[in-house]
Amino acid sequence: MLAMDYRGPYRVRLEEKPMPKIEHPRDAVVKVTRSCICGSDLHLYHGLVPDTRVGMTFGHEFCGIVEEVGSAVENLKAGDHVLVPFNIACGQCHFCKQGLFGNCHESNPQATAVGGIFGYSHTAGGYDGGQAEYVRVPYADFGPTIIPDWMDPDDAVLLTDVVPTGYQAAEMAGIKRGDTVCVFGAGPVGIMAARCAWLFGAGRVIVIDHLDYRLEFVKDYAPAEVYNFRELDDLVVFMKKTTDGLGADVCIDAVGNDASGNIWQTILGKKMKLEAGSAIALHWAINSVKKGGVVSVVGVYGPTGNLVPMGNVVNKGLTIRANQASVKRLLPRLIEHVKAGHINPKAMITHRVPLEDISDAYHIFSKKLDGCIKPVLVPNAA
Ligand SMILES: NC(=O)c1ccc[n+]([C@@H]2O[C@H](COP(=O)([O-])OP(=O)(O)OC[C@H]3O[C@@H](n4cnc5c(N)ncnc54)[C@H](O)[C@@H]3O)[C@@H](O)[C@H]2O)c1
Ligand SMILES: [Zn+2]
Ligand SMILES: [Zn+2]
Repeated sequence: MLAMDYRGPYRVRLEEKPMPKIEHPRDAVVKVTRSCICGSDLHLYHGLVPDTRVGMTFGHEFCGIVEEVGSAVENLKAGDHVLVPFNIACGQCHFCKQGLFGNCHESNPQATAVGGIFGYSHTAGGYDGGQAEYVRVPYADFGPTIIPDWMDPDDAVLLTDVVPTGYQAAEMAGIKRGDTVCVFGAGPVGIMAARCAWLFGAGRVIVIDHLDYRLEFVKDYAPAEVYNFRELDDLVVFMKKTTDGLGADVCIDAVGNDASGNIWQTILGKKMKLEAGSAIALHWAINSVKKGGVVSVVGVYGPTGNLVPMGNVVNKGLTIRANQASVKRLLPRLIEHVKAGHINPKAMITHRVPLEDISDAYHIFSKKLDGCIKPVLVPNAA
């Protein structure tokens, strides 16, 4: 089968690889119909995630047709069209029982902090992902969800990560009616967080980025007030001024460790790798939120850790909430939101690329060329 192959930072290509097999009674093999490239894949692509091994197949956002199931999988059969949450979760451990499916204690033998994630380095279990024609899905009796007949597969594939992540960012922020919510990052995750902030009762939604084409999109889509941080003298001062000197009630970091906007963070984190990428969006979130406010972090940060203004967190009495999205927990209500038209995920898809052209797709998405918001990869056979 054909699958994406990681060759080192900024180098990916398509390779012929062995067909995945059932390795455990709870496995399934899925024939991919669509997969996406995510901002999280860019952290791998840019070499910011430790133990990303040459030869790995990325791809944690995919849906597809069940090809084969292991003997213990009774709720799926060959031919079912499923969307597969990016978290690999057993559904039974101490953490899964609490709905913390991104923190499964069983699915990642390589580390305890995070559960397994498809195609996300050996720090997240070393599982091959879905930027391929076929993929092995562990715990298939728990994770995959059959795509409802009425649902467009383009919406379904975005329910594997982006929609739940944006929604959980707003949920963790504990938004109260009328709150001012400031979202850092107008990528798919930030766009979705801004949209969902309204569902939780926000009174004002602000989105910060430096890519005007994305700000234009989210301005209509969320809708939101948008600002380009490169056009502001001091983002934090601006945020205070526009909120009567108080700061936003809630700040959401939907950027993570690939953030731009501060030369020192870039040198320290992205060039010298003395911290895990640049944490400038998190600095801005902490410094722009009001005293007693909440900072909700879904932007990805990894080992070895980042320098963050902890003194300000303490002195301002902030609450910081963060996690990988717990996709399976949120799916039932998000499927209802899509059905009711409250969320229109597929509107974010700007590029539909044959799997064969995967290296071009990474390049375009990484460099934010051609108005790219969300690229979807479609295998030839699908
Ligand atoms: N927690 C989770 O479960 C989860 C799931 C999916 C993605 N993520 C993470 O969410 C983040 C966003 O993902 P995405 O797919 O939207 O990525 P993306 O790369 O498409 O978007 C990131 C956006 O942030 C902007 N940006 C850069 N520096 C900024 C700054 N200092 N302030 C404001 N904006 C800035 C970029 O211009 C870009 O538009 C990534 O870190 C990704 O790893 C987390
Ligand atoms: Zn993702
Ligand atoms: Zn578990």
